Amino acid sequence: ASRINQSGVEALREFPNFPIGGILFKDIAPMLAGRGALGEVVSTVASQVSGTEIDAILAVDARGFILGASLADRLGCGFIMVRKPGKLPGDVLSFEYSCEYCSGTLEVTAGLIGDGLRCLIADDLLATGGTARATGNFVKSQGGEIAGYAFILEIEVLKGRRQLDDAPVISAMTC
Ligand code: PRP
Repeated sequence: ASRINQSGVEALREFPNFPIGGILFKDIAPMLAGRGALGEVVSTVASQVSGTEIDAILAVDARGFILGASLADRLGCGFIMVRKPGKLPGDVLSFEYSCEYCSGTLEVTAGLIGDGLRCLIADDLLATGGTARATGNFVKSQGGEIAGYAFILEIEVLKGRRQLDDAPVISAMTC
């Protein structure tokens, strides 16, 4: 973890006023471009959930799929997509969310989250925690359980983890 925290944070690039005015965007792209970086992120998270019973990773469109799919592969558990509207065919369930710089609706294919399904919610970034909180609430509304929350990067000053007080919160990197 410490190696990611050092080399990774150095490799974060900051973009003022992106995607809207007033937001200082922290870009993980240069960090992920490093050889072995994603594997190191996944190893960091995987080591912290060892011993936790996880049936499925629930990952948030779009950059949440990076950690989510990789972690599901590493842990050998299921993978469920939480998508922006209009992307999923068939019956979908939807819920509202708001993040640091946006709000809207997210959708999940109906019938995937059964009673007692233990879900770990994955995303690239923990900022205000609004997206992860809404996703966690959705899981619980479907009878699922939250095994934890995992992120590539946590922006600590925004205190998003305060919203996620119902399960362990893991971030591979903090800034
Ligand atoms: C970004 C990021 C998280 C969310 C975190 O979403 O991918 O999903 O903001 O913010 P929060 O903690 O304040 O809720 P964005 O819609 O930009 O996602 P994408 O680029 O992955 O599509």
